[in-house]
Order: sequence, then structure tokens, then C-alpha cells
Amino acid sequence: MSPSGIIGESRVKDSVTIVIFGASGDLTHRKLIPALYIAYAQGMLPEKFTIVGFARRDYNDDVFRGMMAESIKEFSRLPAEEESVMRFIQHIRYHKGDISHPEAYTDLKAKFEDVEAYPANRLFYLSIIPDLFKTAVQSLKKSGLIVAPFGETWSRVVIEKPFGRDFESAMALNKALLDELDESQIYRIDHYLGKETVQNILSFRFANAIFEPVFNRSYVDHIQITAAETVGMEKGRGGYYDEYGALRDMVTNHLLQLLCLVTMEAPGDLSAESIRNEKVKVLNAMKLDIRKNISDAVFRGQYSSGADTDGKPVKGYLEEDRIDPASETDTFTAMRLAINNWRWAGVPILLRTGKRMAKKTTEVAVQFKVPPLQLFQQVECEDDVCDITRIKPNTLIFRIQPNEGIFLKVGTKRPGMRFVVEDVDMDFSYTEKWSKSLPEAYERLLLDTLHGDSTLFTRSDEVAAEWTVVQPILDNLDALRPYAYPPGEWGVREADWLFHGVEGHWRNK
Ligand code: BG6
Repeated sequence: MSPSGIIGESRVKDSVTIVIFGASGDLTHRKLIPALYIAYAQGMLPEKFTIVGFARRDYNDDVFRGMMAESIKEFSRLPAEEESVMRFIQHIRYHKGDISHPEAYTDLKAKFEDVEAYPANRLFYLSIIPDLFKTAVQSLKKSGLIVAPFGETWSRVVIEKPFGRDFESAMALNKALLDELDESQIYRIDHYLGKETVQNILSFRFANAIFEPVFNRSYVDHIQITAAETVGMEKGRGGYYDEYGALRDMVTNHLLQLLCLVTMEAPGDLSAESIRNEKVKVLNAMKLDIRKNISDAVFRGQYSSGADTDGKPVKGYLEEDRIDPASETDTFTAMRLAINNWRWAGVPILLRTGKRMAKKTTEVAVQFKVPPLQLFQQVECEDDVCDITRIKPNTLIFRIQPNEGIFLKVGTKRPGMRFVVEDVDMDFSYTEKWSKSLPEAYERLLLDTLHGDSTLFTRSDEVAAEWTVVQPILDNLDALRPYAYPPGEWGVREADWLFHGVEGHWRNK
């Protein structure tokens, strides 16, 4: 999203050198290089660009290019033609270096003297362990690889998550970055914001006059957000995950961002600052909805051993590779929040996320209140067998993934002599409407960094506000020991309690 709203559709003008730190890592192979390739194949990259892979391994340009060609063939969202891949990889080079060694940067600086081969605008993508963010940025600055902001050429730094482990460490990281860089040079990535369906929440809310008037405490009963995954700790992920867990890995960033988009006020325009100002305002109004104790607002869980959704036996979290057998890290977290502002006061907000759950699905469901007078009977049918039930409230569902779309559940008269109402869906599905694959989040986000559009990136005060919401959980882990939950189901059953006093339950769909 840019002030014009269409910048993302146009070719990047500035020639650029893109340096990827952590070039031998999974993200580079699976996401970054395939996304850059697609941008190239669609004519979005500038005429002159160079991609430098920066890592410790003993590769050279040719070896690295060969590996990147394989990654593109395997992970590109669109078919990758051999000839175009070969042309693209000619733009790639490799720089062997250790992030903690100053020579790695001075060597790079020496190469960069050749501005024909390495255009002077620079994007540094830090796809590295968080402990090295500070060192990398300080060394980049010290070696003169980063130029001052607002000059003739630009330098930008993309920071991958996790951004800190808690409020204090996130603030320390913010300070360390802001000591070296201007806020406008920092792009803190949250890949959820790059998803088409996530961006569509804003368009849907503010491009249609009919929904916005009912998005408030007078009409909405509750909002629930689920991000469920079926995966566990495959591919050696345990080492990272055990340090962070579901709250830090998914809630503090992706889920709170989704919640911001559903609950923020309309920005005055589509500029990065206006949108981010509104997000910060609503984040500052969010609090855990604690009645007596924090344990009535938060449930943490760990999956036990059992069978996954295909019936295949799977290990419990504590038996997984690279997990401390006494770990209390959460692989599931659910919580109830309140938003203390005029629009949302009193509306329960339920969030949950977890690994090894019944299904891979991410959705936001806004459930409206039941009609004030129950004039009709409602039926719920499975084939020809119908039951009389209470009138069902309308629900608006933003399906983020998979089966991306927007669904509105409404009561409709069932054909027949009797006046009974049945729940039906009004569906909009992306694939039915456009029948082409949606752009990957990283395609969008990388192009935005090259255009200098920071709308879909998290500003420093936003990060602070996100950690403020979850910090009480981190401060009270002793009172929030994880419950065990069986794999292949919907997580911790005790988390149903979060719906106390609410017309509804978790949508396990
Ligand atoms: C990442 C988390 O940010 O998001 C992962 O670190 C998680 O643990 C992933 O699996 C989920 O992303 P998506 O796009 O598949 O929903």
C-alpha cells in the first residue's frame, strides 16, 4: 500500500544492490530468492540490480548461482523457465564472510567501489539469528556501507523476526538500531502483512460503506482469530522454537497485526504513517481481559505424542529433536483480550495459535449479536436430517489461508411450507474469482522495500506496543504452566473457558 495505492504494481526505478545476510539459510532458498526471481520475471526489478549472498560457507559465485537456480525451480510460485532463470542468476554473486568479523564488511566495501557492478543504492536483508542483528548493523554503519538517510542514494535494512524476546530486549534492539539508522531506513518484516488476504481486511472495511457502521460494540458480539498449523518441529526447527514458543513466534507479531487491521480506526489516507499511527492507537488500547487472575485470560499448551491428522504417529513436543526435555515452552497459546476504547469496549477478543493442530488454517471471525427478537426458528441440517436450534448470529469470516476468501454467514428461509431459517454462506473465494495463484508475501514485501514503502512494516512504537500487550504473560509464566494437548485436534481444551459469558465457542473448522 502506498499513497497512490499502485506503486507496488510498477517497476522499481532505482538500480540497487541487495545483500542477503544468512544466504545459506532456509529463508533465502525457499522464499527470498524465488520471490526476487518472480519480481524479475514479471519485469518489476530495475534494469540494473545485483544480489549478493553473504554467508560463511565456502561457496563461490558459480556454486551459489547453481544452488539458487535449484531453489527457484523448486520453490517458485510460477513456472520458472530455464532461460529466464539463467539470465536472472547472472545478477547473483557470493560474498564469503563472518558477520562478527569486521574484515567481512571492509572486503565488501572494497567490492562496492565498483558501482557499475554494485549499484550504490543498497538493501541489506538480515535473515540471521536475532543475536547478530546489532553486530551486523553496527558493522555495516562503521564500515561505511550504510549511507546517511535522505541523500542521493539510499541504504535500507530489513530485519527478520523475532524482534526481541520481551519488551525490554525489543526496546534495547530498537535503541541499538536507531543509534545507527534513521527509522525510515529500518524495515521490520512481518510476513503476514504481505499476504493479499491480510491487506484485503483494510480494503474490505474501508472500501465498503455497509460494514463499517456495524464494526463496533453495539453490533459485534466477539471477534476470534485462529492461526492453526499441523506441523510440529520438523527440519531442526526445535532449536529456535524452544527459545521462543507460540506467544513470541506468532502472537506478538502476526496475530496482533491481524487484530489491528480488524479493529483500528480508518486512517486519514493510505500513507505509511497514517496507517501505522492508527495501528499504534488501537494496540495501546489492548489489554489482557483478566477477571481475577491471569490464568483466566491465558491458556498455554504443549502437544503430547499421538497421531497427526493422517493417523501417522507423531512425537510429543518434549521428545522432539533439539527440545529441552523439561521445556515449558508453549506450542499453543490462547488468550482473551479487551480493547479499551469507545468502539470496542466490552467486546471479547479471543486469539489462539498452535502447532500440531487439526488443520492448517488462519482466519479472523467477527461474530455479530443475535437479533433482539427471535421471530423464527432456526434449523441445522446434515443432508436430510434437521434439528431445531437457537437462531444463529451472523458471522463475517476473513479466511487468510488456505481457501482464501471472505464468507458471511446469514440466516435464510429454508424452502418449504414452514417458516424456518437456515444458516447459509455468502462466499467470495479468491481462486474462483481470479483463478490465479496469489502473490507470495515476500514478493510484495521485497518490492515495497525497494520502492521505499514502509506501510507493511512494523514501526518502532508499534513493536513496543505489541510487547506491552503480551508482557504480563511473560511476567507470570509460573502461573501459566502449559497444559498437554493431543496432536491432530484443536489445542488445549481448557481454553474453551475463555468464552465465558460469550455467545459462541471456538470455530473448529
Ligand atoms: C512464522 C513462524 O513467522 O510463521 C512459523 O516463525 C510459522 O513458526 C509461520 O510456521 C507461519 O506462516 P504461514 O505464512 O505459513 O502462516
